[in-house]
Amino acid sequence: MNCFFAYRRLFSLGFLVTAAAGWAACSSSETKEAYDKFYGKGRSERAAEAMIADSIRRVERKAAWEAEAAAAATPAPAAEGAVSLTPPAEIAALLEKNTCSVCHKSDERLVGPPWVEVAKKNYSTDEIISLVYEPKPEHWPDYPPMAPLAFVPKEDIVKIGTWINSLQ
Ligand code: HEC
Repeated sequence: MNCFFAYRRLFSLGFLVTAAAGWAACSSSETKEAYDKFYGKGRSERAAEAMIADSIRRVERKAAWEAEAAAAATPAPAAEGAVSLTPPAEIAALLEKNTCSVCHKSDERLVGPPWVEVAKKNYSTDEIISLVYEPKPEHWPDYPPMAPLAFVPKEDIVKIGTWINSLQ
């Protein structure tokens, strides 16, 4: 029994010595040179740089993504209170049928002023009716005169005019 333990102690000691010797050998500068030769000099430094660059990229990407998400999220609440510039189907059909849409758009200048600009003039529906039948080009000095459109039914202009005023 005693002999067995003695042998084991000796064995462990031998193992420790071998390990220590091995460590001493492997951590020598020679080993480092061999490592550098095999993997290329400064490999660990390059790896560290790459890791830093990678995390910077990741942070930047995250920031860009967050900015994008914020930008996408902001117009939603703003749009809620805003008036829709797209005419409802019935009005769109009337604007089409009576040729108004050839010269007018909701928020862009075509031949005539955009509907949103007309809305700012605060005309009553009756005023809009008479202006379609008898335009007053002096109201829009930097536009060509609108031709009188006698063929447009009054009730169409009432509907169109009411919608125009809803754009305010
Ligand atoms: C051929 C092009 C053209 C067509 C078609 C046209 N407009 Fe105009 N419209 C204009 C121009 C140009 C002006 C600005 C100059 C003016 O008032 O004469 C104008 C001005 C207006 C104004 C403002 C009038 C004022 O005095 O402030 C209203 C309202 C209007 N249009 C309604 C209509 C309606 C409704 C229709 C369809 C029934 C229509 N327009 C069709 C060209 C057109």
